[in-house]
Amino acid sequence: MLNIATKEHDEARQGEAFAPFASDSNPYKKYFYIESYGCAMNFADSEVVASILMDNGFGATNNYKQADLIFINTCSIREKAETTVRKRLTEFRQIKKEKPGMLVGVLGCMAERLKAQFLEEEKLVDMVVGPDAYRTLPGLIEEAETGQKAVNVLLSRDETYADIAPIRLNSNGVTAFVSIMRGCNNMCSFCVVPFTRGRERSRDAASIISECKTLFDEGYREVTLLGQNVDSYHWVDEQKEVVVTFAMLMEQVALISPLLRVRFSTSHPKDITDDVLHTIAKYENICNYIHLPVQSGSTRVLQMMNRTYSREWYIAKVNRIRELIPDCGISTDMITGFCTETEEDHQESLSLMEYCKYDLAYMYFYSERPGTLAARRFEDDVPLEVKKRRLQEMVDLYRGHSLLAMQKEVGKTRKVLIEGFSKKSENDLYGRTDQNKVVVFAKGNLKVGEYAEVFISSCTAGTLLGKVITNQ
Ligand code: SAM
Ligand code: SF4
Ligand code: F3S
Repeated sequence: MLNIATKEHDEARQGEAFAPFASDSNPYKKYFYIESYGCAMNFADSEVVASILMDNGFGATNNYKQADLIFINTCSIREKAETTVRKRLTEFRQIKKEKPGMLVGVLGCMAERLKAQFLEEEKLVDMVVGPDAYRTLPGLIEEAETGQKAVNVLLSRDETYADIAPIRLNSNGVTAFVSIMRGCNNMCSFCVVPFTRGRERSRDAASIISECKTLFDEGYREVTLLGQNVDSYHWVDEQKEVVVTFAMLMEQVALISPLLRVRFSTSHPKDITDDVLHTIAKYENICNYIHLPVQSGSTRVLQMMNRTYSREWYIAKVNRIRELIPDCGISTDMITGFCTETEEDHQESLSLMEYCKYDLAYMYFYSERPGTLAARRFEDDVPLEVKKRRLQEMVDLYRGHSLLAMQKEVGKTRKVLIEGFSKKSENDLYGRTDQNKVVVFAKGNLKVGEYAEVFISSCTAGTLLGKVITNQ
């Protein structure tokens, strides 16, 4: 799924439902089903929601037809993300007709953006719950059970769910997301996230380390530290009287065990420091892979987007990464057709991509989001067909770069963390390299969760094919 170039990582993973915990002998009072859309943070939040509900006596099911409560954790990042959710709700309408006692709750960013308006627009919805209000879910369910509509979309300045142990549903048992902060203070003019997720706040470093340690003890071998802007992580440890920066946090997680891989997402180019780069370079188990969204290659457009860096500044950052971590995979996000974007601006985006030759790029055409700075200040004046044509040109260019990046791996030997069985054959396993590339190879006597040294013998556009040399 990571090689779907035109789709956002969020939409590419849309609609994943949670795993079965239900069984006939379970004494649960009611069963819930939760389906998640959007970015990794939403998926991590669904694990928090599952934990809250299970602590309150509810059981999870992966069959929505059997559920008493259906939750849909939504995304607002582009219009398409919202229409996908609305379509899905129409499918639930039929189920609700057959099972009138069933309750439907909308969680996440659409809930926060639309608030009670959602209840008017979608009559089947019983609960609307924003991302900072999940602790109140049990009470809201009780309220909805009496036939009232229940809404809580209060944003908080300090909610981080730090003390909640997420229930790892749908997990491969090897890789896990760990939220380290919530919200975003950046106010990129195109982006709805600051409005749906609220102000930035960092989670207690000790609780993050403890969650990562527990994961390692349970057999997990990779954690991805999550935040909209991980490099601005900032925690004041009052006992030790120190400020924990992102570089320090990452180091502490890396020190849990050399067998625990550490990844992180997302970095805002303006905040990623040399300290972070040196820390990545210093620890073998911090993966050499950075997602560094640029959005546009034109300084003029970047300024209108309020990204706070220029084309040249971004290029200097990429150069610095490659200087300090020569083997680093770099990926990006790009938007075509932002307000006032000209053909020259677009060519600058293409030439920047030509320069950076990203390993992976997520590309979108601009989708105006109500209430954002851009929606209020600028006209969405690039016609849809022009946005789409530019996007296609960008995707075509990127495909050449990503294939090149795959081909460069052929002939190398890479350490691979085994994540599961190949979709195509039970005799093959798959895993990822440090640089986040998927490798498929014959199973031999290897197991999921182990590391293997794999010689890369060939590749397709999205997958490396290899032979195991040794397992470690
Ligand atoms: N926090 C990250 C950052 O600053 O790069 C990413 C946040 S957002 C969840 C993921 C990507 O969605 C953005 O990097 C941007 O490319 C894209 N995006 C956000 N708002 C958009 C919009 N209104 N239209 C099209 N794409 C958008
Ligand atoms: Fe949105 Fe910008 Fe914050 Fe990323 S950094 S979530 S693009 S406002
Ligand atoms: Fe979507 Fe909200 Fe994430 S808008 S991308 S689910 S923070």
